[in-house]
Amino acid sequence: ASLASAFNIADMAALAGRALPLPIRDYLEGGAEDEWTLARNRAVFDEWVLAQHTLVDVSNVDAGTDLLGYPSAMPLMLSPTGMSQLFHSSGEAAVARAAAAAGVPYGLSTMATTSIEAIAATGANRYFQLYLFRDRGLTKALLERAAENSYGALCLTVDTAIAGNRERDLRSGMIMPPRFTLGSLMSFATHPRWSFGALKNRTFQLANVVEHVGDIGSAGTSVIDYVNAQFDRSATWKDVEWLRSQWSGKLVIKGAMMPGDCARAVACGVDAIMVSNHGGRQLDTAATPIDYLPAIRDRIQNSVELIADGGVRRGTDVLKAIALGADGCSVGRPYLYGLAAGGEAGVARVLAIFRAEIERDMGLMGRTRIADISAEDVDHISQFCA
Ligand code: FNR
Repeated sequence: ASLASAFNIADMAALAGRALPLPIRDYLEGGAEDEWTLARNRAVFDEWVLAQHTLVDVSNVDAGTDLLGYPSAMPLMLSPTGMSQLFHSSGEAAVARAAAAAGVPYGLSTMATTSIEAIAATGANRYFQLYLFRDRGLTKALLERAAENSYGALCLTVDTAIAGNRERDLRSGMIMPPRFTLGSLMSFATHPRWSFGALKNRTFQLANVVEHVGDIGSAGTSVIDYVNAQFDRSATWKDVEWLRSQWSGKLVIKGAMMPGDCARAVACGVDAIMVSNHGGRQLDTAATPIDYLPAIRDRIQNSVELIADGGVRRGTDVLKAIALGADGCSVGRPYLYGLAAGGEAGVARVLAIFRAEIERDMGLMGRTRIADISAEDVDHISQFCA
């Protein structure tokens, strides 16, 4: 099946599923424990309906906005994800090129398989996602490289002090070094295109931290243990203040969820908050960004930008999040589906689908500008139930 046969993100997910061996697909799709939060990230959008205003002149719909200090063609950006080479040999650089062409910001993960410098060379509007390492020298070296390479924003992920319990990975043997089950090995054998590509083109190196922590493959431990060993579990708001003093660009917190935490982040001087439960991969049974957005917006007023991250698969999802208080949304798995299904062209297709859906649905709502979307444009379905 070709990319042209993917009319929506679910179609693209199906294409990706066919391209990837099972352990890789499970790593991509999986969430923590019972995956309740993963499922609710999607389901929560079904609890809201959009307003349909008619007889508005919609001959000119503009989805453009600003995100993290960058102009963006639509209120959507790309979340940082680690090890994109797992999904396609072209990895993070292909995603960044597609983001640049589509005019949306791209987030490079600390755990990327492509370097800070190589992504800068793509020319994408970019931000760098940082983890706080116990080795503060490593943290500092990373943010200096991000500054030298003109990353407009630094994004500190704060929901991973402890690694989530992703049982699909334990089951498939997607640990370091891999301990694949017979079923997993069969799946590599029946996906020869992926497997040959893996052997030929991919290094699977954590390009930005490799000098400091060595080759992850030789760690002799599970990815979870490895991550636990490197991240600073003792990090607190003081470290956010420290980071603020070290970084003069935009500072973003990713993974704050509670209104009180968001207020604290604002007090620390951040410029934006990605409200996120890490795509359901960390604390299972945590609520979703959509659940808290109105209370967060109420609490922090218009002080900083709010980005809703997790479960966004349709233009209508984006528009609902904006109506509930977000300035925009961010996606992880959707662009990785595109990458797995067709490299840069697959990511481009995913972004084109989102843009077309957002613009079409804005017009159908009778809204021609993102700034015109407000709380009046959504209703909770409970209102219509007896
Ligand atoms: C992630 N995510 C993530 N977040 C982060 O801050 N640093 C990282 O390295 C990663 N790595 C990562 C890998 C993979 C395979 C996935 C699926 C996710 C979380 C990511 O940034 C984002 O929060 C979620 O993906 C959002 O949910 P959706 O859009 O995937 O539903």
